[in-house]
Amino acid sequence: MYRILKKEMLAPKIKLIQVYAPEICTHARPGQFVILRMHEKGERIPLTIADSDRDTGLLTLVFQEVGKSTTELGMLSEGDSILDIVGPLGTARDIEKLDCVVCVAGGVGVAPMYPEAKAYHLLGTRVISLIGAQTKDMLIFKDRMEKVSDEVYYSTDDGSFGHKGFVTEILCKLLEDGLRPDEVIAIGPLPMMRAAARVTERFGVKTVVSLNAIMVDGTGMCGSCRVTVDGEVKFSCVEGPAFDGHKVDFDELIARQNRFLAEEKLALERYLAGVGGCKCHQK
Ligand code: FAD
Ligand code: FES
Ligand code: MG
Repeated sequence: MYRILKKEMLAPKIKLIQVYAPEICTHARPGQFVILRMHEKGERIPLTIADSDRDTGLLTLVFQEVGKSTTELGMLSEGDSILDIVGPLGTARDIEKLDCVVCVAGGVGVAPMYPEAKAYHLLGTRVISLIGAQTKDMLIFKDRMEKVSDEVYYSTDDGSFGHKGFVTEILCKLLEDGLRPDEVIAIGPLPMMRAAARVTERFGVKTVVSLNAIMVDGTGMCGSCRVTVDGEVKFSCVEGPAFDGHKVDFDELIARQNRFLAEEKLALERYLAGVGGCKCHQK
C-alpha cells in the first residue's frame, strides 16, 4: 500500500500526488513511468515519474483527470492509500551533456518533461523550454521548468499567457531564425508531438517523442501498446516510451488510441452516476 503524503491541485483537473516509494525512487531515471492500481478492481494507470527523490523516497506523479480511473484517483485525499504501484518501467532516456536541447511540452506533458529537462540542466546543457497550454490557468510546473531552463517560451490557445497559438509555432520560428539544437524532445498530446516532429524534420533536427500508447501490463506481454516505428512494430512499454519522432507512424497510433472511446465514455458516466452525478464534492 502506498499512502498519499501530499496532494496538490496544479490546475483545473490536473493534480499532483506524492507517495513514499523508496524502492522505486532508488532506480527511477528520466523517461520512466509507473503503473498504479488504486484497488483490487482498479484499472491499471500508467503515469510518468514526474520527480523522484532517492534521499527521501518520495515519488511524485502528476495526472490529468480525463476519464473514469484518473477521476477516481483525483478523489483520493492525503492519508488515503493506493493498492499497488509497479515501476520504474520503460527504457530510461540516455541523457548526456549536449550543447543545446529544446523541450517542447504540451498540457500535462510538462510534468513528464521536467525530469528530462532537469537532467540535461544538471549536466550543463543549454535547455530551451517551450511550454504550451490551453489557457493560463492550465499552465503547470512553471517555476520548476524555469529553474532548469536557460530560456522559457509560453503559448496558450487563447492568448491568455505568452504566444497565442500552438507551441509548435514557437518551435518553427526558433528554427527558422537559425537555432539548431542537438535534440528536440516533445512530450504532450499525440497531435502536438506529430506537429513538432513534422516541423523539425524540415530542418533535420533530431527529435525524441514520448508515446502514451494504451498500456495494460507494461512489461511487453500483452501487445496493447504496439506502435509502428520505421516500419517495425515496437512495444512502447519496454522499447519506449521514447522514440525517434521522425519514424513514428502517428496516424496509426492516434487511431489506436481512440479504440475504446465508447467504453471509456460509458465507464466515466457510470462512475460519476455512482458517486452522486457530479464532481462538486471532490477533495
Ligand atoms: P479513459 O476514459 O479510460 O481514457 C481516456 C483516454 O486516455 C483514452 O482514450 C486513451 O487515449 C487514454 N488511455 C486510457 N487508458 C490508458 C492506458 N491504460 N494507457 C495509456 N493511455 C490510456 N497521464 C497523465 O496525466 N500524466 C502522466 O504522467 C502520464 N504518463 C503516462 C505515461 C505513459 C507511459 C502512458 C502510456 C500514459 C501516460 N499518461 C499520463 C496517460 C494516462 O495513463 C491516461 O490518461 C489514463 O490511463 C486514462 O485513464 P482513465 O480511465 O482516466 O481514462
Ligand atoms: Fe502490454 Fe506493452 S503494455 S506489451
Ligand atoms: Mg480508463
